[in-house]
Amino acid sequence: MMGPVLAACLLIILSTAWISQANGATCKKDGGVCTCNDQTKNVDCSSKGLTAIPSNIPTDTDRLDLQSNKLSSLPRTAFHNLNKLTFLSLESNQLQTLPEGVFDQLVNLSKLYLQDNELKSLPSGIFDKLTKLTDLTLSQNKLQSLPHGVFDKLTNLNKLWLQNNQLKRVPEGAFNFLEKLTRLQLYGNPWDCSCNDILYLSKWIREKEGKVNGIESATCVNKKAVLEITEEEAAEDCVYPNTTTAIPTTIITTLASSNDDDIPELPVPQENFQKFLGYQEPDHLPTQPQCLMSISGYLGLMMFFVLISAAILYVIHFLKKA
Ligand SMILES: *[C@@H]1O[C@H](CO)[C@@H](O)[C@H](O)[C@H]1NC(C)=O
Ligand SMILES: *[C@@H]1O[C@H](CO)[C@@H](O)[C@H](O)[C@H]1NC(C)=O
Repeated sequence: MMGPVLAACLLIILSTAWISQANGATCKKDGGVCTCNDQTKNVDCSSKGLTAIPSNIPTDTDRLDLQSNKLSSLPRTAFHNLNKLTFLSLESNQLQTLPEGVFDQLVNLSKLYLQDNELKSLPSGIFDKLTKLTDLTLSQNKLQSLPHGVFDKLTNLNKLWLQNNQLKRVPEGAFNFLEKLTRLQLYGNPWDCSCNDILYLSKWIREKEGKVNGIESATCVNKKAVLEITEEEAAEDCVYPNTTTAIPTTIITTLASSNDDDIPELPVPQENFQKFLGYQEPDHLPTQPQCLMSISGYLGLMMFFVLISAAILYVIHFLKKA
């Protein structure tokens, strides 16, 4: 009875340890997958097939490279201990959404790379704490709209990439606070130049031409350059739903229920496991706390016997002497 339970427990504990190593430890020296440089505070986790962010990233990390992995979502607290970060790359992942506040602790971040993901929208205020940001790449996503004022706090932004998305318009005043901007890519978006809300962008491009590189390449769906659009051409007063901040409820519930402290669930094929162990009772495999209890109980029992034997030997020894 004890044998199979213990064997099952050991298997469960070992495989949990293996899984948490695969998704938990960070640096190679601790058994993780990332290359950590103690001098430069650079943590390189790129191209490792990661589906979750390693949980023990050193808190003094300056540069964190997570590019070319398989991240499809981020827990809200993903970077909460990493307020020293100045560089964060999440490019070439499968991110579909970003939780509100996920970057809020990164007050010293200067480069944020999010290109080549599957983002359809951004939460409002997502970049509001990143006042030191100089480079922001959002290109090659599926962005259909931008929240009102999303770049308003980025007064140090130098380079902004928005090319190759699904943007038809930008909110009125979207780029008004980007006083240090020198490069902005807008091409590869289906800019809708029939609606009068394109006039802000069109006028802004004309104003900044020669000061901000790349902007004149923005082209309307009808192939005209955005900067050439006149009030007569963009006459329509288009009404469209204000969906900029809407997040589908399914995502909200998944985010709310996902807790990054959770130990990853173990997909244990119970029946095979039990057959393999020739093991009938109890009905379910022991859970981890039960395992720990049974193991500590087992160890305690052994200790008890060892102590009793020691005591008996001691008494015998004592009696022999006497
Ligand atoms: C951000 O950088 C400034 C200047 O280098 C430094 O004084 C401050 O402590 C940094 N903040 C954090 C949270 O590390
Ligand atoms: C959309 O919503 C934002 C914030 O709720 C608001 O500031 C903005 O004016 C709205 N835009 C339109 C076009 O209604």
